[in-house]
Amino acid sequence: MAQLWGGRFTKEIDQLVYQFNASISFDQRFFKQDIEGSIAHVIMLTKQGILTKEEKDAILKGLTGIRQDVEDGKLVITDEYEDIHSFVEANLISRIGDAGKKLHTGRSRNDQVALDMRLYIRLEVLYVDELLKTLMQTLLTIMEKNVETYMPGFTHLQKAQPVTLAHHVGAYFEMFKRDRSRLKDIFYRMNYCPLGAGALAGTTYPLDRSYTASILGFEGPTLNSMDSVSDRDYVIEFLAALSTIMMHLSRFCEEIIIWNSNEYRFVEIDDAYATGSSIMPQKKNPDIAELVRGKTGRVYGALVSILTTMKGIPLAYNKDMQEDKELTFDAIDTVKGCLALFEGMIRTMRFNRDVMEKSAAMGFTNATDAADYLVGRGVPFRDAHSIIGKLVLYCIDKKCSIEELSLEELKEVSPVFEEDVYDAICLKTCVEKRLTIGAPGAKAMREVIAREKAYLSKSWQDEEDLLGGRLGEAIK
Ligand code: ARG
Repeated sequence: MAQLWGGRFTKEIDQLVYQFNASISFDQRFFKQDIEGSIAHVIMLTKQGILTKEEKDAILKGLTGIRQDVEDGKLVITDEYEDIHSFVEANLISRIGDAGKKLHTGRSRNDQVALDMRLYIRLEVLYVDELLKTLMQTLLTIMEKNVETYMPGFTHLQKAQPVTLAHHVGAYFEMFKRDRSRLKDIFYRMNYCPLGAGALAGTTYPLDRSYTASILGFEGPTLNSMDSVSDRDYVIEFLAALSTIMMHLSRFCEEIIIWNSNEYRFVEIDDAYATGSSIMPQKKNPDIAELVRGKTGRVYGALVSILTTMKGIPLAYNKDMQEDKELTFDAIDTVKGCLALFEGMIRTMRFNRDVMEKSAAMGFTNATDAADYLVGRGVPFRDAHSIIGKLVLYCIDKKCSIEELSLEELKEVSPVFEEDVYDAICLKTCVEKRLTIGAPGAKAMREVIAREKAYLSKSWQDEEDLLGGRLGEAIK
């Protein structure tokens, strides 16, 4: 057991207490961030005259050596250390001796862990954004190819009006676009450096917090030391954004599961993304879509968990906050895995265009347009609605669609119908007439696709050098 404290204790810690308290099994995840933060801290301490150049050189050599050895597998992070901070500091001291004992000058594990978590989440925000962008690229390709692939649009899961596959997929494109914009907001809001807040009340050393912040690529230092060590809003916001991404993926999966069912057959999931049954030889199941839908719950769980953990915490740091890590890490892994797998599944999926189109033609998706036809010839909408309602009932009885009725049959219900009705209510017309921006008509859809293409061609991540190579420069 290696601890950073013990001076004021008269007994060894109870073994179970030690294990219960330890976080090394999970906080080793931000090992690199811990070293990065320490490097920045040491450079700043030296600039401020708190450490000598020799001490700085020794510490930096020690820290980079530890990082290299862990990466090469020569040094293993084990649970004989309480947390990742203890692991790094203890190893540093055993490598370089007394100079290593100065690393923690003007710092507490409270601001240290707050920094590590921020550095880690900040990077993950960018990774998740990249995965979303890749998925959206795939969606856009599907959209471009399917501007004239007609399919039924649903409300209440009942056929409503015809749309196109491009339009349907485009709805998800919008959702993921909002997800990316949420990530961007989170990045900029969280991009302030808590290091230098100390345990809670700053330190008496003349630290240059703005400098540390700048070399770590932050916008600036956080402005209240008590808030700095106890703020986990960015974790909550990130988990909320991840939950929303999962909610979107889950809705899409639900549709794919329905579309892939024997009854619908709108799509066929590629063999590489489906599974079989151990007993029923004929089965090909959409397990990936079901798993993504299923995993949504654990991401929501992480969000609710951290919200609940934080709600009763008095200022400033309390150990409850150690609970921010495991579930957050699990949520990040889950979302990244789901995004990558979902992208592969949809990229390789086949769309049965004929089945979709047939389905759109059946089910009276042109009933609104038929009513509009009558309105165009002077019938008040309420009367037109009722006339078409009667026609639908007649068609259900006859097991046919409206456009399959003869002009005589149509005229029997309303003399207003003329030969041009067939053109007015055919599937193509129904879709193509919907030309307001945001509607499925091909012209409107192509305009939207051009805009989405422009959107994807540049990323908010390109706007500036977000993380910067500043630390590298500062070391020199
Ligand atoms: N493992 C701790 C955490 O994750 C690090 C901070 C410990 N600070 C302390 N005062 N015990 O929150």
